[in-house]
Amino acid sequence: MRFHILTLFPEMVDICLHASILGRAEKSGCISFHTVNIRDYTTDKHKKVDDYTYGGGAGMLMQAQPVYDAWLSVHAEEKKRIRTVYVTPQGRTFTQDTARELAREEELIFLCGHYEGVDERVLEEVATDSISIGDYVLTGGELPAMVMIDAIARLVPGVLHNDISAETESFQNGLLEYPQYSRPPVWNGREVPAVLLSGNHAKIAQWRLEQAEKRTRERRPDLYERYRSGE
Ligand code: ADE
Repeated sequence: MRFHILTLFPEMVDICLHASILGRAEKSGCISFHTVNIRDYTTDKHKKVDDYTYGGGAGMLMQAQPVYDAWLSVHAEEKKRIRTVYVTPQGRTFTQDTARELAREEELIFLCGHYEGVDERVLEEVATDSISIGDYVLTGGELPAMVMIDAIARLVPGVLHNDISAETESFQNGLLEYPQYSRPPVWNGREVPAVLLSGNHAKIAQWRLEQAEKRTRERRPDLYERYRSGE
């Protein structure tokens, strides 16, 4: 899967994407990243990419021309339209279901907004989706884009060595994950639940399900209601 990221701050994105599990997955070839610096596409002789908003109001807006030309540079050699996500607090909220849906694409473009946003006309032209990571406002779209790319990339086959962990983690069956323990069996006077040391796999599976349900009921009653009603 190939991710294109249109941004005014490519250095912010590059550090994040080439480290850790995503960096390893890129080397192994299951995913690839292409960062596009929107400023490289401005036709303004001072390299300006933003301007005041018509109608007044505080703050600057990213202009249509550099954004459109940066987007076109990705599309130039493409035959079919690539799904383009505008990263904005005004979008629908990103969830695990959104990650699953987007992980089915072969390529994705993320457009990271800055300042007061982006000229509406270019959004109408290029954005197929507007997505937010939650009801709070950050200084730009780079961090939210990284959050979404991370959640999507880990669902791409081969990115996690252990494919089972992509399936069994929180949200996979609509529940939060059960508590987990590693050695030693007693730490700071706290024991690992005996059932986990019993070797009885049916009992362990039952205990884990009960714990997942309890945790979800206590911490996320909204998720638990959905799980119970089978939505
Ligand atoms: N840009 C600023 N805040 C954001 C958010 N919460 N989600 C997506 N993009 C953003």
